[in-house]
Amino acid sequence: MAARAVVVVAAGSGTRLGLGTAKAFVPVAGERMLVRALRTVLTLAEPTLVVVVAPADRMDECRALVADVAGAASGYVTVVPGGADRHASVQAGLAVLPDSVETVLVHDAARCLTPASQFERVFAAVGSGDAVESGDAVESGDAVAGGVGVVPALPVTDTVKRVAGDVVVETVDRSALVGVQTPQGFPLAGLRRAYAVAERAETDDAGVFQAAGGVVRTVPGDADAFKVTTRWDLGRAEAVVAERAGARSVDLRVDVRVGLGVDVHAFDPDVPCRVGMLDFPGEPGLSGHSDGDAVAHAVCDALLSAGGLGDIGGRFGTSDPRFAGASGDVFVRGAVELLRDAGLEPVRVTVQVIGNRPRIGARRDEMQDALAAAVGAPVAVSGTTTDGLGFTGRGEGLTAIATALVRSR
Ligand code: CTP
Ligand code: MG
Repeated sequence: MAARAVVVVAAGSGTRLGLGTAKAFVPVAGERMLVRALRTVLTLAEPTLVVVVAPADRMDECRALVADVAGAASGYVTVVPGGADRHASVQAGLAVLPDSVETVLVHDAARCLTPASQFERVFAAVGSGDAVESGDAVESGDAVAGGVGVVPALPVTDTVKRVAGDVVVETVDRSALVGVQTPQGFPLAGLRRAYAVAERAETDDAGVFQAAGGVVRTVPGDADAFKVTTRWDLGRAEAVVAERAGARSVDLRVDVRVGLGVDVHAFDPDVPCRVGMLDFPGEPGLSGHSDGDAVAHAVCDALLSAGGLGDIGGRFGTSDPRFAGASGDVFVRGAVELLRDAGLEPVRVTVQVIGNRPRIGARRDEMQDALAAAVGAPVAVSGTTTDGLGFTGRGEGLTAIATALVRSR
């Protein structure tokens, strides 16, 4: 059972948006806010229980929507009816969590574009206790709330005035102010106690937690985690989605080409092992004129073939003494250079490593980063074995297959 949970509050009526429908069900660029918020929560790496707090009169619709979005992960998601205000809705969500949950994040469905990284940042800060700096004079042990809460915060950019009616009383020192967002994270037991003793509804969970004596610290927020409250916010959300889609798509009207590269090297236990531009100490190396880095060579070939520029042997000479023992880096950078001369640049590379060893899973990120630095574009690395079949299955050698997408510059 997951030790962490996210409560997504989605039971509000959306009065200020004024569309006559519950806000979480309002679409942003064709997709309901609740779907967008939920989809992000479901991408979190660790198992996370999710409670969706829905409008009481839309429970069936909400359950259907959750089943649709969560699919096989539906078992992790519970839907409960909300209350008259946000405070009551959060309490309804907290009530159904099992006591085994240690950390809970409370999130507004209306902050539907909040990136997953913000959830991870808050979870990490609650979990590690990093949020409390050493030497800090804050004592939380005796507080009703107990533990440390974490809120994502952004600096206030507008000049802020205190007013009485329409008369400005003073300018408030903005350097001491932040705007806070969700998700806000807490130890579950502490947040439950805080809600149980709360005497008045606060506008956020950190307010409830702090009123009960809990300590709340901030982590950096994200501009995309803004709350959709008004029509203007809805337009802003639509613009953010459009911008994200634009950044992800490749304009197919420009010259886009695809390349493929395959390389195979036999193991040689007497040479150091270098695969995907990383050293694997203690693993058998790969034989070859160069350093035998089949992954780098496959990437190089994929880049060259995408540009119609031949292959690694033809371009760099498998017996050329200049490349004896050369690292894979030299070939990949060489291929990128040749592409540039041809007016092309890499957009994305994918490479699959096929073999029993070395195991790349634990070093995937490192390998992707090393290859991406040489390619100058994102590189995705995956690995597989051949179920004991063939030369890779017998552990005689390693195969790498790469594809590359390049476009005109
Ligand atoms: N919320 C809730 N239950 C309520 C009120 C609010 O779950 N009774 C949730 C909303 O669905 C939203 C979040 O709390 O995700 C933040 O609230 P807010 O932005 O105020 O949403 P609404 O109350 O729906 O909007 P309005 O105040 O304009 O009616
Ligand atoms: Mg409200």
